[in-house]
Amino acid sequence: MKNDKIKKIIKRKYKKPIICLTAYSSTVAQILDKYCDIILVGDSLGSVLYGMKSTREVTLDMMINHAKSVKKAISNSILVVDMPYKTYRNNKEAYQNAKKIIKLTKCDALKLEGGKKIINIIKYLIKKKISVMGHIGLLPQSERGTFRFKGRREIEKKKIIDDARLLCDAGVFAIVIECVQESLAKKISNSVLIPTIGIGASKYCDGQILVTDDLVGLTNFTPRFVKKYSNIRKIIRSSVLKFKQEVINKKFPSKKNIY
Ligand code: KIV
Repeated sequence: MKNDKIKKIIKRKYKKPIICLTAYSSTVAQILDKYCDIILVGDSLGSVLYGMKSTREVTLDMMINHAKSVKKAISNSILVVDMPYKTYRNNKEAYQNAKKIIKLTKCDALKLEGGKKIINIIKYLIKKKISVMGHIGLLPQSERGTFRFKGRREIEKKKIIDDARLLCDAGVFAIVIECVQESLAKKISNSVLIPTIGIGASKYCDGQILVTDDLVGLTNFTPRFVKKYSNIRKIIRSSVLKFKQEVINKKFPSKKNIY
C-alpha cells in the first residue's frame, strides 16, 4: 500500500526535483535524512562495501542488516530497499522475500530491476499491497562485464520505453532510469505519469540518484555520470597520517584524551 510520503512523491512529477541517495549504515543515513526524499539501500553495497565483483553476490540477509541500520537513523525520507539477485524469480519467492524485508526493516518500498520480464511479479507484489520502485535501462544484476549506456539501437530504445509504460501501468510509484541517452530519458519521462529518477540519465528526469560513496569521493569509481562533490579519501588519508605521526611522536593521546 502506498503510504502518504509515497503519494506525495508521485505528486512531485514535473515539479520540485526528487533527491535520492544511497545509504548502507545509520551513520551515513543520519546525515542524509534531512536532505533526501528517498534513501535507497542499494545492492551496490556489494561492490562498494564488500569488494564484490557484481551485485549478483549480494544476499537477502546483507540487504536486511544494512536496511535495519539505515532505518534506525531516518525519520524524514522514504526508505527503499533493493531486492537482490535471485530473490524474486517467481511470485511466491518474490512475495515471501519482500514480506521478510519489510517485516524486518520496516522499509517503505522495494526496488526490483527490470520491465516486461518481471512485470507479472511486480503486479503480484503490488496486488499484495507492497510499494514497488522500478529500475530500467542499465540493470546491474543482469550485466556481465562492462557497463555501457543502454538504448543505442532503436529496438533497444523502444524496449526501454515499453518497459517504463508497463511498469507505470502495473502501479510502481517511481522508476529509476540508469545510463541512457538524454533524448531517451526525456522521452521516457514524458511517457509515464509517475516520477523518473535518473542515474546517468540526464536532467530530464523528475529526480536524481547517486551512490553516496561515489558522490563524496570515498570510492575510486569514476564513470561519466558521477560527480564527485568532495574527496573524502584525501581527508581520511591526511587524518590517518596525522594520527600515525602523533602516535609515533607521543603527542596522542594528550592530557585531554586520558582519564
Ligand atoms: O544499487 C544501487 O545503489 C542502485 C542505484 C545506483 C540506483 O540501484
